[in-house]
Amino acid sequence: MKRIISIFLMGLTFLISCYAMAEEQKMSEKKALVVYFSKTGEQYGVGHINEGNTAIIAKMIAEHTGADLFEIKLKNDTYPSAYKALTEVALAEKKTNARPEIEGEVKNFADYNVVFIGSPNWWADMPMVLYSFIEKYNWNDKIIIPFVTHEGSGLSSIPNKIKSAAHPQKVLEGFAIYGHTAQNSREQADKEVLAWLKKLGY
Ligand SMILES: Cc1cc2nc3c(=O)[nH]c(=O)nc-3n(C[C@H](O)[C@H](O)[C@H](O)COP(=O)(O)O)c2cc1C
Repeated sequence: MKRIISIFLMGLTFLISCYAMAEEQKMSEKKALVVYFSKTGEQYGVGHINEGNTAIIAKMIAEHTGADLFEIKLKNDTYPSAYKALTEVALAEKKTNARPEIEGEVKNFADYNVVFIGSPNWWADMPMVLYSFIEKYNWNDKIIIPFVTHEGSGLSSIPNKIKSAAHPQKVLEGFAIYGHTAQNSREQADKEVLAWLKKLGY
């Protein structure tokens, strides 16, 4: 009896790994988009930056997956460049559940199967403009993959917030990385991005 059970378990393990391999192949064949919001100017722990931390990661993901890129920009960008002042504006927007307007739109959004959503962690949440973006599109049948740059809070509950806002069928494992690693240790950041993408099946 023991022998039969162990043969059965081996067969089952084999089938599961075949299925996982098939899934892996499929992932890289899906049409993917990387959307992100990222802020230049004075940023925590990195001084004044000309390329945002999340933008750096977004570009790495696009390069490794062949995905298209879309940067979420504010229609009226009145955000202060100074870090402390920005944190105050961001907190006020969070408290009022603001929906800042977006400049431009994603063309042919319906064509994408996979959408990576990149955000800095602001007050353990996304900047409110991410909600403006998510609420503008139809996420039926999309696979969403969150990624976040932060300075200690990690993903917080951002993947769940995305899930509630978008009602997608699938939100895959999110990726979190320190903003200062993205900005100042790009080789290390790239290694981490690659390892995560591999786990996702890329
Ligand atoms: C308004 C604001 C609020 C922030 N709140 C948090 C926070 O709650 N937790 C955290 O770990 N980092 C926080 N940070 C740091 C950012 O998440 C981090 O610097 C991030 O990498 C910035 O990404 P960006 O350059 O793409 O905008 C905050 C930064 C700003 C500007």
